[in-house]
Amino acid sequence: MRFDVITLFPELIEPYLTVGVTRRAFASGAVQVRLWPLRDFAEGPYRRVDDRPFGGGPGMVMLAEPLHRCWQAVRADRGLAACRVPGAPVDVPTVLFSPAGERLSHTVVSRYAQPGGAGAILVCGRYEGVDQRFIDACVDEQISLGDFVLSGGEIAAVALLDAVARLQPGVLGDQASAEQDSFNPALDGLLDCPHYTRPEVWEGPGGAMSVPSVLLSGHHAQIEAWRRAQRVQITAQRRPDLLAQARAQGRLRPSDEQLLRELGYNREL
Ligand code: ADE
Repeated sequence: MRFDVITLFPELIEPYLTVGVTRRAFASGAVQVRLWPLRDFAEGPYRRVDDRPFGGGPGMVMLAEPLHRCWQAVRADRGLAACRVPGAPVDVPTVLFSPAGERLSHTVVSRYAQPGGAGAILVCGRYEGVDQRFIDACVDEQISLGDFVLSGGEIAAVALLDAVARLQPGVLGDQASAEQDSFNPALDGLLDCPHYTRPEVWEGPGGAMSVPSVLLSGHHAQIEAWRRAQRVQITAQRRPDLLAQARAQGRLRPSDEQLLRELGYNREL
């Protein structure tokens, strides 16, 4: 799959593509990423990419024209028509990162992570926003990293690319790892359990701290039961909304419900 990133700051994104486990996905081409410096598509001696907002107000707005020129160049590079017929099926989706978008989630990531998928054209907004006419004409979906305002969409683009890359087969050393991430449906949408490694006893700042003994028992069924109980308890404490969703989707087991009763969490979580 291929992602084209339209950005004023490709140098913010580039380093993330060459480090950590996800670099394999990018280096192997399983997830192709092309960076498109928006300023290359701006005209005039100053290569302007923004201007003051009509109607007044603070900040600057990104010009529609350089964005459209760059978007057309991306589409041409993909062998796609420069114009899309209004109402025609989306060939490659164009995503704008913006606080006004749908919140990025495992569901959104997995939609873009399907092997053999078309990927997307990712547009990183900056300044106060993007001229609405470019959004109306070219953007299919808006994605937000959360309910806060970033200085631009680059960090959100990197977040999506990283999350997509780690879901590609063979990218994580142990294929089971991605499935054991928090939010993965393989874990019924629960948060992940705590993890421990050597030494068995760590001399922490407050004294000796041991690994839960069940993890040293070698008893796989008991270890699995402990991990499941931890996931249920942690999700109930920290993200009751996720637990309620898991319950509504029929993903909680009788043993989970029994644990929740014992812990004093009522059914109306
Ligand atoms: N650009 C500015 N704020 C953003 C946010 N919260 N998510 C994605 N892109 C953004």
